[in-house]
Amino acid sequence: NIDSAALTALPKAELHLHIEGTLEPELILALAARNGITLPFPTLETLREQYEFSDLQSFLNLYYANMAVLISEADFADMTRAYLARAKESGVRHVEIMFDPQAHVARGVELSTAVNGIAAALASSEAEFGISTGLIAAFLRDESEESALAVLEALLHMRAPIMGIGLDSAEVGNPPSKFVRLYQRAKEAGLHLVAHAGEEGPPSYVEDALDLLGVERIDHGIRAVEDKFLIKRLVTEQVPLTVCPLSNVRLRAVDTLAAHPLPQMIEAGLNVCVSSDDPAYFGGYVGANFAALVAEFAWDAATVETLARNSIRSSFASAERKSELL
Ligand code: HPA
Ligand code: ZN
Repeated sequence: NIDSAALTALPKAELHLHIEGTLEPELILALAARNGITLPFPTLETLREQYEFSDLQSFLNLYYANMAVLISEADFADMTRAYLARAKESGVRHVEIMFDPQAHVARGVELSTAVNGIAAALASSEAEFGISTGLIAAFLRDESEESALAVLEALLHMRAPIMGIGLDSAEVGNPPSKFVRLYQRAKEAGLHLVAHAGEEGPPSYVEDALDLLGVERIDHGIRAVEDKFLIKRLVTEQVPLTVCPLSNVRLRAVDTLAAHPLPQMIEAGLNVCVSSDDPAYFGGYVGANFAALVAEFAWDAATVETLARNSIRSSFASAERKSELL
C-alpha cells in the first residue's frame, strides 16, 4: 500500500470539481453572517444534519439552497481561495473548476460578480498555491436550452475567462439531445466540451454526450459499465472519465465503496481519473478520495500513479504544463 505522504506528493489534476460544492458549513455560516442572510439551518449543528442524501436530487436541493450566501465578488473569491488551499493539501497541481452561472443569475446575482470573484482567486493560484487552473461554465440540464444559450452568449460577450462548458444538475429525463445547439455554439467559440453523463442516467446518455454533443471528457460515466459495447468504445477512444467515488457513495449511485466499479473500470483499460465533485458535501477532497480507495482496495503505488497520470494527461493544461507534472 502507498502511504499518505507519497499519495500527497504525487502530482494530480482535479478535473471534476464544482466550486459551489466546496462551500464548507463553517464558510456558509460566515458568509451568511457577513451578508445578513438568515438560512433555514442557521447553526453548524442543524446545517450538518442536512448532509445525508438519498440521491442526486436530495443533494442538489441543499447545494442550491446554500448558494444563497454567495452575494459579492469577495464571497466567490473567498470560496475559491479556500478550495485552492485544500486542494494544495491533497497534492492537486492543476484544476479545472466548474461553476453554475445560471444558478447565480436566477438568484439575482450578476454574472460578472460570480465570474470576476472566481477569476480573481484563480489569477493568483499558480503563485500562491502552485496550482494551474481553468474555468468551466456548467449549464443546468434541468433548465431549458434557451436559458443556457442566453447565459453562454452573455459569458462570451463579457469575455469571461472560461476554457470550456459542462452540463450538470438533475440528469435523468434531461438527456444530452436537449443541448445540441448549446454545444455547437460553444464549439464554434473555441471552447472545450465536457458533460456529466452516466452518474444516475443510463449508458445511452454517455454515448449521446459523445455523438450528439462532441464532448472531450465524460464526468462520472460509471453507468457505462452496464454496456459492454460502450465500454469497448470508451477503451478504444480512451475517452477520459472523471470518476468521483465518495460522491457516488454519498448520493447512493453505488451501494458501498467496496461495490464501486472503479477497479473493474481500471481493469478494462478505461481512461479513468479521480475527482472530488462537491468535496464539502461528500466527505472529502481528492486526497480523501484516494485514501478511501487505497484503504478499500489495498492498491499499490502503481495503480495510484496511473490514476494521477491519467488526470494530468486528460486535462486541458498546456503541453508544457503537462510535461512539468508528468
Ligand atoms: N451531479 C450533477 N450535478 C451536480 C453535481 C453532481 O455530482 N454537483 C453539482 N451539480
Ligand atoms: Zn459533478
